[in-house]
Amino acid sequence: MPQTSTRTSSIEQTLDRIIGMSIDTYYNPYKTFQWPDELPEAQWWMSPGLMTVAGTPYAEELSETQLMALSKWESIHFYSLNVHGIRELLLEVVKRIHTPGFEKESEFFHHFVGEENEHMWFFATFCLKYGGKIYVDKKAKWAIDSVEPDIESLLVFSRILIFEEIVDYFNLRIGRDESLHPIIRQVNSIHHQDESRHITFGREIVKQLFDQLTPKHPQEKLQEVDQYLSRYLLASVQSLYSPAVYRDAGVPDPYRFRTELLEHPGRREHNAKILKRTVDFFTHNGIISEQADLR
Ligand SMILES: [Fe+2]
Ligand SMILES: [Fe+2]
Repeated sequence: MPQTSTRTSSIEQTLDRIIGMSIDTYYNPYKTFQWPDELPEAQWWMSPGLMTVAGTPYAEELSETQLMALSKWESIHFYSLNVHGIRELLLEVVKRIHTPGFEKESEFFHHFVGEENEHMWFFATFCLKYGGKIYVDKKAKWAIDSVEPDIESLLVFSRILIFEEIVDYFNLRIGRDESLHPIIRQVNSIHHQDESRHITFGREIVKQLFDQLTPKHPQEKLQEVDQYLSRYLLASVQSLYSPAVYRDAGVPDPYRFRTELLEHPGRREHNAKILKRTVDFFTHNGIISEQADLR
């Protein structure tokens, strides 16, 4: 009980602080970016160390031209994943704004929905302008029916947090990589700035929702939540590996290529690194078990 009330006041303080930051740092995305008409093909579109071949022999075996083409399509795919992820999270947050149980959060939800709409716009603009398309969403749907509303909300905000933290791993590093084109760095660093508020909020609300539901549900239910989120973490990081991208980059057997990469020990290590901060958060708060096998 004291733990729950401490967390309640902690979320209120967090909300006040991040709403203030949202207002103070508000920018007009439609005027912020100077989009070049085109970007050179022969350049790194993302840092080589963030590509799905990093840590495997392919990073040496493919020519620089092939790797640069792969970096282009992997970056267009990464921004496409953002577009689809944002659509999903907007639906869920809009469904909850000004409904019972979200009285305190609703003011922040207005900022969140507004900011995410703008993120979706600049990611989609990048894809369409420089890739001529948005990759189709191939990720399985994770909405679950016939689950209690409090558990559903925990799963929804956990999925949002996992998505935002994985994206942020890339945004932070791409934004800082001085060898990349300024527009690529700008899109990523601006997104990183906004997402640090969303992630701060996400961690608070996930902890609060979990604290509220633990006394109400049997152990087996909590184990189902644990298994669901562990599967979701793994599926999320694996969604970065796209056969459509490998095909666009000229890889002859894109499905086999994907399987080979996913099984490569160097990639398992990278995947674990991408997920580390998030897995630590969920295990530290007792939401997923230490034994969760994410490889
Ligand atoms: Fe975003
Ligand atoms: Fe966000």
